[in-house]
Amino acid sequence: MPTRNFLLALFLAFAAGAVFADSPNLGQAISEADIKAWDISVLPDGSNLPPGSGSFALGARLYAEKCAGCHGPGGKGGVNNQLVGGEPLNSRIEATKTIGNFWQQATSVFDYIRRAMPWPNPRSLTDDEVYSLTAYLLAMNKIIAEQDVMNAQTLPKVRMPNRDGFIIRFPEKI
Ligand code: HEC
Repeated sequence: MPTRNFLLALFLAFAAGAVFADSPNLGQAISEADIKAWDISVLPDGSNLPPGSGSFALGARLYAEKCAGCHGPGGKGGVNNQLVGGEPLNSRIEATKTIGNFWQQATSVFDYIRRAMPWPNPRSLTDDEVYSLTAYLLAMNKIIAEQDVMNAQTLPKVRMPNRDGFIIRFPEKI
């Protein structure tokens, strides 16, 4: 007389076979290229920054064309966020937060623009264009010089004014 376990194993073997046989065979294995297209997160230390580079001059041109309509000429603010300048954050609670006085990591500027801007058409910029807009906004905030070229090596070295202004709530968990 077969044991209950044996019967169970037999049942599972056939049931599993039936399930696979009935599979509609939809979908396909994801390719490396598909993963790469979505794997765009840049870490604070610059990991995953793409090749390429950008300059203030190209950034200024692109900014006037694709960004100034919402963020104002020179990043001074318009219908949407001010990106340049801003009073010291400790002056008053409502102080406007910008890349210059608030953002902790220069690499986040690249990451954010590449994934989210321009607002009506995100992910439409080339990597060189994103590096250029990053260079433009950092230079307008007087964090780098206008002649500084931004790329995967230089951008992570940029030291943001507010880099020490964030308090880590659970430092022991890092
Ligand atoms: C149609 C309007 C529009 C255009 C054009 C636009 N933006 Fe924005 N931008 C926004 C809005 C709205 C937000 C706020 C989004 C949010 O908080 O979720 C924003 C946020 C940002 C921020 C983050 C600001 C902060 O401190 O939180 C940056 C940086 C930025 N935009 C850069 C750009 C750049 C560079 C371009 C041009 C390539 C651009 N934007 C074009 C509307 C626009």
